[in-house]
Amino acid sequence: MVAVTLAPSILTADFGQLADQIRAAEAGGADYIHLDVMDGRFVPPITFGPLVVEAIRRVTTLPLDIHLMIERPEAQFEAFIEAGGDIINFHIEAAAHVDRLLRGIHAKNKRAGICLNPGTPISAIEEVLDVADQVMVMLINPGWGGQKMLPTALNKVRRLKALLDARGLKPDIEVDGGVKATNAAQCVEAGANILVCGSSVYNGDASPQSNLRTLRQAIGNAPSS
Ligand code: DX5
Ligand code: ZN
Repeated sequence: MVAVTLAPSILTADFGQLADQIRAAEAGGADYIHLDVMDGRFVPPITFGPLVVEAIRRVTTLPLDIHLMIERPEAQFEAFIEAGGDIINFHIEAAAHVDRLLRGIHAKNKRAGICLNPGTPISAIEEVLDVADQVMVMLINPGWGGQKMLPTALNKVRRLKALLDARGLKPDIEVDGGVKATNAAQCVEAGANILVCGSSVYNGDASPQSNLRTLRQAIGNAPSS
């Protein structure tokens, strides 16, 4: 069985209690902490920058999975690495020199991920698939937590997985947006091995620990660490 990585996104966490919220996810068996960086340009909202990443770095030893939803990621990625980011994901739609940026992240000894908006075809990343450590397929239009997964989104994950298999490539496939206990197994079946879970972990219904347990049960998967 493929070990599935659960990556809680703090976007819907209580930012007034951020350290506790992150510790709760860690205690609940989170594998990564997923951090959504938005600049008010690539996507309408603004979230946070390296300063907050640095503060989060101090409260957890889990890998920090940085999701840059910003224009010109090439101008900013180093600051997020210096702040403690372990995996730097950027959007293909936002970067002019994708190959150079992937290699630039590698030059800093960090994992490099490339993200695809729902409207962006897989063909847009075909030339750099062998350079990426992970591919993040957006299952929603980025910008907000709590949205419903787009109906055709998992089909794209299946097609990406088939393409990677055909080329003998093994980057991680991360899915982001609308992942819940009710569809997590379908995401894994489609080929994803990293699940970003935002409002399915941080919500008013149950604690992050309990929600992570429910997600883990839904995919029938023991913690990967
Ligand atoms: C949205 C972010 C997501 C978000 C997911 O643009 O990239 O990581 O936090 O939230 P849910 O899981 O609630 O869809
Ligand atoms: Zn994200």
